Amino acid sequence: MPSPAPTHLFDTVIIGAGAAGLFCAAQAGQRGLKVLLIDHAAKVAEKIRISGGGRSNFTNRDLDVRQPHRHFVGQNPQFCRSALSRFGPAEFVALVDKHGIAHHEKHKGQLFADHSAEDIIAMLLAECRAGEVTHWQPCAVNAVAALDADAQGQRFQVSTAQGTVHCRHLVVATGGLSIPKIGATDLGYRLAQQFGLALVPRVPGLVPMTFDGSAWAPYAQLAGLALPVVIGTGSKKNRMTFNEDLLFTHRGLSGPAILQISSYWTPGTPIDINLVPEVDVAEQLLSAKQRSRKLIANALASLVPARLADAWVAQDAEWQRPIAEASDKALLRLAERLTRWELTPTGTEGYKKAEVTVGGVDTRELSQQTMEAKKVPGLYCIGEVVDITGWLGGYNFQWAWASAAACAAGM
Ligand code: FDA
Repeated sequence: MPSPAPTHLFDTVIIGAGAAGLFCAAQAGQRGLKVLLIDHAAKVAEKIRISGGGRSNFTNRDLDVRQPHRHFVGQNPQFCRSALSRFGPAEFVALVDKHGIAHHEKHKGQLFADHSAEDIIAMLLAECRAGEVTHWQPCAVNAVAALDADAQGQRFQVSTAQGTVHCRHLVVATGGLSIPKIGATDLGYRLAQQFGLALVPRVPGLVPMTFDGSAWAPYAQLAGLALPVVIGTGSKKNRMTFNEDLLFTHRGLSGPAILQISSYWTPGTPIDINLVPEVDVAEQLLSAKQRSRKLIANALASLVPARLADAWVAQDAEWQRPIAEASDKALLRLAERLTRWELTPTGTEGYKKAEVTVGGVDTRELSQQTMEAKKVPGLYCIGEVVDITGWLGGYNFQWAWASAAACAAGM
């Protein structure tokens, strides 16, 4: 009879070597814990690699820790306050500076690596080396089970393709569901369910929106056009708006404006867009009517890109004439349609294109100080698997770093 394979013993096993898992492993290892970091993908941190167009928007200086609802979505954005107040953007920037990684601010507080996202990954791996973290990768996780209380302080058994491990602390850092082709899975949610933790329904966030094929036809010719807008959604009571750039695509709308609002959008409800937020369009058109012989499209082209002006006037015969001959009513209708363009998306481009997953492990299940599950001592959830989703602009990574640091400090 061959003797059974030995069981490996670690203080802490972290599943998922992405942003949160790597940082948690490094911090826990440097605190003296014996840490094993497991990922089923061949490479660590694929999402950091592709983030920020390859330069990683690794945090945001504008994060207001006192008002987390301003930058985070979830059933209780206040949950992230404790972790972020202990490990905020300044702390992560200090680490980036310590590693000599040059960075710059783009706009709205967004910080990017000057050279490459690989520098951030190399930094996290160096921090893991300093914490003597053991890596098993690529390595599938087959099953996780709770151990009997008398198992010498070990609480969990993790069965993997490289063997069986026992540990005191098990950290779920498996991220969200977006971009399955680079390794996203639902393992984290399944583990949470296995241990009786409630989940908030998951939907794609920071994602382009799609519109009905025939209804979209008049706008398809605008593909590639980008312009600053004010975009909104929601009822009066919980309305959300963003001032960002909008991008027309062949299938619908994208760009920062749409990505941001998508995290707040409820299927079946409309979004509204002010395509000319800086100008009083009605006043401009009525005044042009008094002094111009131009076609409405040409007059409009002084306020919006000419392609947009042409596509807009094509929607109504009343708008296809010299502005001097147009009725005030028709011009006011045109102004209204440009400044309050209301449309109902048919859906989103889904997890294939989403940057994040909205929803996840219900924050009521976790300690906001340590990320430990209240009813399962030793089990922790960090990063995107938790029902905390950041705005576009570095907030999601900052949540990954902060929740990882809180978890490592609490183990
Ligand atoms: P993350 O996804 O980083 O890591 C999860 C890890 O778990 C992965 O390594 C995965 O392989 C592993 N895993 C999953 N299932 C497993 C299983 N069954 N077994 C073992 N391992 C498993 N955010 C931001 O702040 N700034 C930015 O610039 C961007 N840019 C950006 C671009 C694109 C294209 C995307 C898709 C996303 C972003 N984001 C972003 C979001 C950001 O990448 C994301 O929120 C964080 O990576 C989340 O960190 P986590 O560690 O929680 O998950």
